[in-house]
Amino acid sequence: MTQDELKQLVGRAAANYVLSNVAQGAVVGVGTGSTVNFFIDELAAVKDRFRGAISSSVASTERLKKHGIVVLELDEVETLPVYVDGADEIDREGHMIKGGGGALTREKIVAMVAQTFVCIADTSKRVDRLGGFPLPIEVIPMARAALMRRLVDLGGDPVLRLAKDQSVFVSDNGNSILDVHGLTIENPEALEIEINSWPGVVTVGLFAQRGANICLLGSADGVERIDY
Ligand code: A5P
Repeated sequence: MTQDELKQLVGRAAANYVLSNVAQGAVVGVGTGSTVNFFIDELAAVKDRFRGAISSSVASTERLKKHGIVVLELDEVETLPVYVDGADEIDREGHMIKGGGGALTREKIVAMVAQTFVCIADTSKRVDRLGGFPLPIEVIPMARAALMRRLVDLGGDPVLRLAKDQSVFVSDNGNSILDVHGLTIENPEALEIEINSWPGVVTVGLFAQRGANICLLGSADGVERIDY
């Protein structure tokens, strides 16, 4: 199976999960990324069952709207029964690294409001220890150099993310992203709390304090459900 076929498999499994576990007329939280794109496409087939979606990025909003799925503002809901999103890495406790697509801040906000976080991933994302994938951190642009120095002190190798045209990447919130290579992440929760406390950091892409509740993990053998 190709990686895209695996992504489609878990996207479909997530749509089935939502269909079986979320009440008719509810609002669904939708993440960002290539795996979620397959989920959005599958959700479109059953869109009339739901009131609409809360989106975690401009890109997902565009895709949802293209399918005729209503996109609501987070202010319009108090809670969400489920949030479905991908991950760059997920460990055995459901802690994740996210933000490869640059949407980490809005993803964290929507995840905070959701009762159940369903991570959709293929087996290449499953790791024993987080940190092989460079850790994304959304930062206020004026803090970039100062925060890069602090990250070097922490043992990391931060790189300012660039867009395809080599200009500085700008997040949906108008900020920059630092991708930190080479970190040894022994305690994801403690590192999340520490980096988030630094002035200038908007969000670190560690999802440990609020990790996944369920992972739908796709492999050539099918989709395995893991509960945390
Ligand atoms: C977006 O910012 C990320 O958090 C994505 O959820 C993550 O990068 C996984 O993306 P893919 O499904 O494209 O691998």
